[in-house]
Amino acid sequence: MPLKAEPILPRFGAECSGLDLTRPLSAEEVKQVTDAMDKWGVTVWRNTGMSDADHVEFSRNFGYLEKVMRREGVKYRLPFPQLFDASNLNVEGEITKDPGAIQYRKGDRLWHTDSAFLEKRTSYSILLAHQVPSKGGNTGFADTRSAYDDLPQDMKDFLEDKIGVNSLWWSRKMAGADIPEEEIDARFKARHPLVHVHRGSGRKALFIAAHTMDIEGMDKAEGRKLIKELIEHCTQPQYTFEVSWNVGDMVIWDNLCTMHHGCEFDYENEKRDMRRTTVREGTEPHTMDMGDDPYGDLFSKSPKLVDINAARVAGR
Ligand code: OGA
Ligand code: MN
Repeated sequence: MPLKAEPILPRFGAECSGLDLTRPLSAEEVKQVTDAMDKWGVTVWRNTGMSDADHVEFSRNFGYLEKVMRREGVKYRLPFPQLFDASNLNVEGEITKDPGAIQYRKGDRLWHTDSAFLEKRTSYSILLAHQVPSKGGNTGFADTRSAYDDLPQDMKDFLEDKIGVNSLWWSRKMAGADIPEEEIDARFKARHPLVHVHRGSGRKALFIAAHTMDIEGMDKAEGRKLIKELIEHCTQPQYTFEVSWNVGDMVIWDNLCTMHHGCEFDYENEKRDMRRTTVREGTEPHTMDMGDDPYGDLFSKSPKLVDINAARVAGR
């Protein structure tokens, strides 16, 4: 059965059906998915029936999957290192009370692109719902290609060669963690062009995120004002929609032409179990190991206030 795509906005987002994602896909089916992704930027797949293993296997069709660092002697909630835990749960599966973990996750409420803070960017993020709250907990998506198209020509010209400087810890500071700027400056920052050509569609897109701290060569205050304005521009109603989740739903978004954020829900009283795979840009399908561990390196130097490692240790 061919893939069916129902648009959500005229140029952005589609509800897709027609493929059984619990089985290995043929090369032709994988192409149908990547074509839909190149066109729509975000695809929503309802009631997939996928397991953790199906999720990882499906994701491998699109490139190398980033791994979450595993430390010896530490217990983890999820069965594969390729699954990022976007839940509000601790290792025992209970709602976390750890202030570091709660503060860390608050950063996901801001509009962002995954891994903008790493040197190697993420193309697709693939998020699968395992448990959802009774109310709220949507995920919002923004179209950074159409938003770019609609910028005035003088702004396009201004942005053409500009480089954004990105830090994971900056987004955590923006979300309220009291991290001094000197501490952020002492840690790794990733440089990425603010505008790039989206490879699959040939359209230009903005590449900005809550992680974007500064614009190279610009006065800090002016750069930060512009970053804020660009994020506000991209997240206007005509470029955005929200996905409301049910268990088994999966959403694929292309971080290179979208932004996203988690929406409010009763974080302290309701469980929300979301698991994500993360495809590294420009890598071959089914690559099992790239011989590096960018997240391990990043989190080994995590500021104490947003210490995601500590939050994951059993018993906390
Ligand atoms: C993510 C993310 C938001 C959400 O998994 O990268 O930002 O709604 N998730 O869970
Ligand atoms: Mn995210």
